[in-house]
Amino acid sequence: MTNIFLETLSGTAHRIPPVWLMRQAGRYLPEYKEVRASEPDFISFCLNPEKAVEVTLQPIDKFGFDAAIIFSDILLVPWAMNRNVRFVTGQGPLLDPLTDPSEIDENSLDHIAGKLSPVARSLSLCRETLAPEKALIGFAGAPWTIITYMLEGQSSRDFATARKWMWDNDRKFDELLDVVTAATIEFLIIQAQAGADALMLFDSWAGAVPAHFRRRVVSEPAKRIIETLRRRGITQPVIGFPKGIGEGLVAYCNETPIDGIGLDHGVDIAWAARHLPAHVTLQGNLDPLSLIAGGEAMNRAIGSILEAVDGRPHIFNLGHGITPETPERHVHDLVNRVRGRMS
Ligand code: CP3
Repeated sequence: MTNIFLETLSGTAHRIPPVWLMRQAGRYLPEYKEVRASEPDFISFCLNPEKAVEVTLQPIDKFGFDAAIIFSDILLVPWAMNRNVRFVTGQGPLLDPLTDPSEIDENSLDHIAGKLSPVARSLSLCRETLAPEKALIGFAGAPWTIITYMLEGQSSRDFATARKWMWDNDRKFDELLDVVTAATIEFLIIQAQAGADALMLFDSWAGAVPAHFRRRVVSEPAKRIIETLRRRGITQPVIGFPKGIGEGLVAYCNETPIDGIGLDHGVDIAWAARHLPAHVTLQGNLDPLSLIAGGEAMNRAIGSILEAVDGRPHIFNLGHGITPETPERHVHDLVNRVRGRMS
């Protein structure tokens, strides 16, 4: 049985590309909201393998995507590092802001795999149920994106606290990068060992890193993570998603041993197809808000992505996560359009 997602990620271009959507399990689906309501605490929900598998599979059953991404969250890593992480309805994640790396409980690093073992259980359960032609993706946040939440204590617009740290606390910032990198590696290893077919590293806020620091804060940690995975026997392909770095994508692709690169909707896909190294599979980059409009506007945007990447291995996806306002009908339309069936 061929798995077109994995074939594409290993460098084979398919005439009809594989398709999945970031945040494909979520609040735009009534059946997600139903399961979610049964587990009001978001972290307990993520750590409940039966429920996590159920919502992971909902969008596969409904839309026939080529890959499932395990239901979990990037902020489980600071949670497993004993930071006080909670999700408040209407407000998003809240953490007690870290003011010094010494506040990190170093012993917590020895317990990451144990505390996050329910996510590994979700992956193995899910892999048992998922059809062999569908791929299962495990993931983690990249260290910088996790650090923004640890320092800011919440989502942020300009990441001023985290960026000031970068300039003021040279050594301390590197210390923080080191420990979060180590924790991220442990999280990815248990996911790969449990049955993930591919891994994705979300650096959602990479665009906030000054270009001057990009190599040290974005590329180097990703490189270290992947090299360590390889040394520890993990062979699954890795997709990097350094969102918002524009022209910096060329250096990122050359500085990290990634197999695939996620492209946000700010990137000109024709530029990416021409300038990103040929050994890297492209993924993305439809604006998630085009799914709210739907219709001809969305179809034209899909058409121009397919045209721009023609001949290159490409995984169809959005430039960022699908939004809760998205009509399900438009998701069906998107999949049909990508697969060449106009509805
Ligand atoms: O893609 C999927 O379907 C898998 C699940 C997934 C979630 N979070 C579930 C989730 C994935 C891949 C993530 C990654 C994630 N989490 C990122 C990186 C990707 C991105 O979007 O940039 C980030 C930055 C987070 C942190 C996070 N988790 C925030 C900021 C929030 C609150 C914002 C929001 O949308 O409510 C979450 C909560 C969260 N994670 C939800 C889901 C489905 C919504 C919570 C709910 O159901 O009430």
